[in-house]
Amino acid sequence: MTRRDALPGAVRVFAPASVSNLGSGFDIFGLALESPGDEVVVRAAKGTGIVSLSMTGDGGRVPTDPARNAAALAVQGVMDRLGTDAGVAIEVRKGIPLASGLGGSAASAVAGAVAADALLGGSLDRPALLECAMIGERKGSGANHADNAAPSLAGGFVLVLPGQPPEMVALPTPADLVIAVTHPHTEVQTLEARMILGDTIPLAAGIQQWGNAAGLVAGLFTEDWELIARCLCDAVAEPVRSRLVPGFERVRASALEAGAVGAGLSGSGPTIFALCRGRGVAEQAAAAMAEAFREEAGLASDTVVSRVNEVGARILEITSR
Ligand code: HSE
Repeated sequence: MTRRDALPGAVRVFAPASVSNLGSGFDIFGLALESPGDEVVVRAAKGTGIVSLSMTGDGGRVPTDPARNAAALAVQGVMDRLGTDAGVAIEVRKGIPLASGLGGSAASAVAGAVAADALLGGSLDRPALLECAMIGERKGSGANHADNAAPSLAGGFVLVLPGQPPEMVALPTPADLVIAVTHPHTEVQTLEARMILGDTIPLAAGIQQWGNAAGLVAGLFTEDWELIARCLCDAVAEPVRSRLVPGFERVRASALEAGAVGAGLSGSGPTIFALCRGRGVAEQAAAAMAEAFREEAGLASDTVVSRVNEVGARILEITSR
């Protein structure tokens, strides 16, 4: 047991945005971006449990009721695991746009879990931290998927094996892989984008999908870009969900015309990602997608060009008591 007066006074943590699904890996593939990301500060406070919760960067839209807030639920999950009723104050600084398909609620939950654990003794391992983050993520998406939280926590290109708890398997990242991400200024609620999928898929779509998922993993291991290109297709979710994203087909095509290896919806969208070989191609793909969103749908966009973030969540600052 760590003496309470030996523990820090506050811990500030950054957790990155993530691109999930990656075509064929609905709920099982995700990768971490270098930016944007969310920051969470957890401070020791007088009292017991979560004594305060404040948010910035969300335009006042994310609930500050701890029972409905991804970061706070993750912090509470850590405290429950550690069996402590210590008082904590939470500050969430949103850097990831809301309902963007970039894993914002997962990043807040991951940052909250990592910060709370570091504040309270730093004894939880990654699988335990992921489980705590998932308590928060479930609230955001209404489903139990770890394909955003796992890469945000651990970094890298991750395969998540579903289960209780989910298991993280690190996949290799080809050296010249750069991701272009274009976020149009519109929103898609993950819960809604999951509900329109229904519960069943045709067998033929399943065969296509698991073939592509296996092919993508093989392509990453062998750095076979032809194989990666052929397998970056979603036969299950994207054909249904793309109608929620104005201009989707043209935007995706513009990335491929700019030289991207493959492109598709980032998570439940509306952000579109493109996997590229090299930064130059990725910058062209990001710009082409932004232009296509403007021309096809009259939407302005933000773009990010990033390597895979191999670190994941990181502690930025520890303040003593
Ligand atoms: N795999 C999840 C989905 C990610 O596609 O619903 C949500 O961002």
